[in-house]
Amino acid sequence: MLFVPISTIIALLSLGHLSDAALTPRAPAGQTINLVRSQQSKSWSKDQWGSWAQNQKAALEAKYGSPGSQVRRRATGTNYYFGSLAIGTPPISYNVILDTGSADLWVAGQNCTSCGDVSTFDPSSSSSFQNQSTSFSITYGSGQAAGFLGQDVVQMAGFQVQNQVFAICDQVSSGLLSEPVSGLLGLGFQTIASSKASPFWETLVSESAWDSPVMAFQLTRYLNESNVQTLEPGGSFSMGFTNSSLYTGDIDYVDLPVQGSYWILPITNISVNGESVNAPTGEEAYAAIDTGTTLVGGPSNAIAEIFAQIPDSQPGTGDFRKLLHLSWHGSRADTCLGAFFEITSGGSAPAWIVGDTFLKNVYSAFRYSPASVGFAELSSLAISMNGDKDTAVPSATIGSSPASGVGDEVVFEQE
Ligand SMILES: *[C@@H]1O[C@H](CO)[C@@H](O)[C@H](O)[C@H]1NC(C)=O
Ligand SMILES: *[C@@H]1O[C@H](CO)[C@@H](O)[C@H](O)[C@H]1NC(C)=O
Ligand SMILES: *[C@@H]1O[C@H](CO)[C@@H](O)[C@H](O)[C@H]1NC(C)=O
Ligand SMILES: *[C@@H]1O[C@H](CO)[C@@H](O)[C@H](O)[C@H]1NC(C)=O
Ligand SMILES: *[C@@H]1O[C@H](CO)[C@@H](O)[C@H](O)[C@H]1NC(C)=O
Repeated sequence: MLFVPISTIIALLSLGHLSDAALTPRAPAGQTINLVRSQQSKSWSKDQWGSWAQNQKAALEAKYGSPGSQVRRRATGTNYYFGSLAIGTPPISYNVILDTGSADLWVAGQNCTSCGDVSTFDPSSSSSFQNQSTSFSITYGSGQAAGFLGQDVVQMAGFQVQNQVFAICDQVSSGLLSEPVSGLLGLGFQTIASSKASPFWETLVSESAWDSPVMAFQLTRYLNESNVQTLEPGGSFSMGFTNSSLYTGDIDYVDLPVQGSYWILPITNISVNGESVNAPTGEEAYAAIDTGTTLVGGPSNAIAEIFAQIPDSQPGTGDFRKLLHLSWHGSRADTCLGAFFEITSGGSAPAWIVGDTFLKNVYSAFRYSPASVGFAELSSLAISMNGDKDTAVPSATIGSSPASGVGDEVVFEQE
């Protein structure tokens, strides 16, 4: 709450030309951006899918740390959902993967030689950039991204953080980023940030920029579609509110069992084609809800039980056509899953990692206070956005196209 002496308000109101500015409401308390879904691999053979799944497993284990590791790491998926934000003065737009499983913002730097065609950030082109002169590094299963920390104005969906700390990465393992994505926006808690900086979303919450301290995803799915393009409309990401036209009924929130970690939910029931599988209990049931991961990983015994229910299947390579069900508290999110694999997550990391394969079947909400994750059933409007509709892929709404790298016109051409 901001207390302004009454005399000050009267003074402002009496100055005709200033009163407009003084009375103009701040940015609306809830905003949405449209997402893009990227799928690089539509024509892969089953074997290629299998080796991709194996890579996912390795990368995911790296993201969630081997025992004792302090570094928070992220896997790159072949399928992911990204949106646009803008950095600097004047604002330049960048596409970033939205990742609830990590908490740092980073973008490729101008001097990155392994970043291919991706648009890169040039600090000298922003008059508001300040170098923090601190190094930043994230280690992956297959390499690393490293650079330095700076701070600048960051804008997304009508919200702005004046001095957002983020990393400019000049050493990025090849393949980690691919055009048109220049980096990643972590939507997890500051406690897991490698940079130790307050994440963009948490700063907005602490500044009371949002009326409601919640962010939410509606992710589109493209099931069994033959002409899905590499880039398709990906749904939407809202900050400061949940969009009630995208779900039906109430959002079934469950309090996080652990504070200051990932966005975690305990799994309450697993069934495969209607048959219950021994559901894990206690910490073995903790699942990180991770929009930056494609598939679902879990402990080996539970995964073995799941695959035992599926004839001719094996963990890791998974049969992508099998229908599996995972239930959460309230079982509102009973739904189909494509692929599970075994992971050995380290240290304090949760036993399960639940990615987009699950999340695109529900409306998902990530609430700061009380700290909780909630799911709701998608509305028929949301479901009608699934599948290939020849809809144009959304483009940046804030900031001009990057000066370096490839611009918007080229970005949306198909290979
Ligand atoms: C890129 O390298 C040049 C020359 O070393 C340096 O002046 C500039 O600050 C570097 N830019 C970034 C983003 O690190
Ligand atoms: C920022 O500081 C880091 C570390 O001191 C340095 O490597 C980098 O070149 C600097 N970048 C710019 C743009 O000044
Ligand atoms: C996938 O599409 C093919 C061709 O349209 C159809 O024969 C098949 O039944 C569909 N499979 C599913 C699971 O919908
Ligand atoms: C809610 O979602 C619908 C469908 O995408 C959209 O048309 C509408 O503008 C959204 N509402 C708000 C307040 O953003
Ligand atoms: C788990 O879900 C399955 C399928 O929906 C159901 O048959 C079973 O009774 C549930 N088990 C528990 C313990 O809720």
